[in-house]
Amino acid sequence: EGFLPFEHEPYFNFRDEAVAALQRQAFAQVREQYLGRTFPLLIGGQADEGSGTFEVRNPADTRETVWRFQKATPGQLEQAIQAAQTAFEDWRFSDPFQRASIFKRAAELLRARRFELNAVMTLENGKNWPEADGEVAESVDHFEVFARETLRWSQGKPVYPMPDEHVTTVYEPLGVVACISPWNFPSAIPLGMALGALAAGNTVIWKPASETPLSSYLLVELLFEAGLPRGAIQFLTGTDDVLGDPLVDHPGIRMIAFTGSKEIGCRIYERAAKVQPGQRWLKRVIAEMGGKDPTVVCADGDLDAAAAGIVQAAYGYAGQKCSACSRVIVEESVHDALLEKVTALASGLKVGLPEDNADLGPVIHPGSAERIQGFVARGQQSARLVLGGEAPDTGGREGGYVAPTLFADVAPNDPLFQEEIFGPVLAFTRARDWQHAIDLANDSEYGLTAAFYSRDPHKIAEARKRIHVGNLYINRKCTGALSGTHAFGGYGMSGTNAKVGGPDYLFWFLQTKTVAQRY
Ligand code: SER
Repeated sequence: EGFLPFEHEPYFNFRDEAVAALQRQAFAQVREQYLGRTFPLLIGGQADEGSGTFEVRNPADTRETVWRFQKATPGQLEQAIQAAQTAFEDWRFSDPFQRASIFKRAAELLRARRFELNAVMTLENGKNWPEADGEVAESVDHFEVFARETLRWSQGKPVYPMPDEHVTTVYEPLGVVACISPWNFPSAIPLGMALGALAAGNTVIWKPASETPLSSYLLVELLFEAGLPRGAIQFLTGTDDVLGDPLVDHPGIRMIAFTGSKEIGCRIYERAAKVQPGQRWLKRVIAEMGGKDPTVVCADGDLDAAAAGIVQAAYGYAGQKCSACSRVIVEESVHDALLEKVTALASGLKVGLPEDNADLGPVIHPGSAERIQGFVARGQQSARLVLGGEAPDTGGREGGYVAPTLFADVAPNDPLFQEEIFGPVLAFTRARDWQHAIDLANDSEYGLTAAFYSRDPHKIAEARKRIHVGNLYINRKCTGALSGTHAFGGYGMSGTNAKVGGPDYLFWFLQTKTVAQRY
């Protein structure tokens, strides 16, 4: 705990023209430095080529290939797992102060490159400036938080004493951890999982989403620059036939840390349960999956604050966050007033190029836009379309642009209310009263985040007890968890509730040894 105190990394103020100029300059630099380049696999500390390469496209205009990455072969997967096992034999015994110092150094290195990492992310996944910046700032926070968590967990825990034995409870690492991460948070999410593994003394197979590998690659190189032994992370990119099931099924993998869709999360959870020939452990899986996150607005709530929070949480990064608000459940008496405020704010959002810092960029693939438009088309049969519905003018660019979309009078059994759409589509539902609103909020297989707006201490107390989610936010938006403070992870089908950035996260990456000694 030698590094206290801690402060979250402040965000850049892009309204300051000098700051905006630095971000624009970073786009120019990133284009000059990285555009058209091909990046390697990193196995056993060595750069390597795969069986071929794949293209990473700019989602803002998919005709633009930004960079290329390797397709790892089955042989390279074997090599990588072996290299991680070899590196584990050293890293497992490394000094926690050494680990913490590496993470502290990495925080400093990343602070100095935030504009660059923001620009890389925007070009890979279409985040606008503050969305990319929020995530890179979160990555700095992760380094700082995990430095402290490394030291905290290295101290073991006290036990009830015995007169004739000296007993300690200590935490030891597990082995090789596969970290499988999504494109929507290509920096903070894989980093959180990998730092959980590394802080605990495990080694890592780092498999980024194929849409967003450079945001990950630069962090891995940065960790090496900060002093991490190069064998501690194997960076593998490629296709699912090599890095999907075969990675999950491999008997050399001790644990899988996954963030992504419910479908893939469930598949991993099931497959990992099978003990493979030669496997000497039960695999551990942590899986962070989807959400269908409600905002409940009570009649006595601050409607302006609620409307602002809803619009940010529903349409920020075009709704492509597991934490995004996708349902508004509002007491009948203020329904129309709230709907009007949200509609007014949402209709002011501009769809355009993320590189120009438009409010809403494209969704990740043109195919995703089609899927989302399918929900919108079907929704018009069952609910009232208030905003959106037409394809926005893309200025000739090929990208999956979807206008901010809002439905009212959505019934609880409607797919708009139950299914994770992962786009800028928001459903309004009326509640008879605030208790009914809480019941509707809980009417979901998911349970990731929720927001609750009221000024009444009694209602707030009930919401705190009864809303069934891992992250409940009272009188604020339901996105933007901060590392170290808002331990992040859900209930129900939102996943295993490992709570990244929280006080117990490292426990998931550790096993506990009791040593009883008599003298
Ligand atoms: N941690 C992010 C948020 O809170 C989602 O992954 O918005």
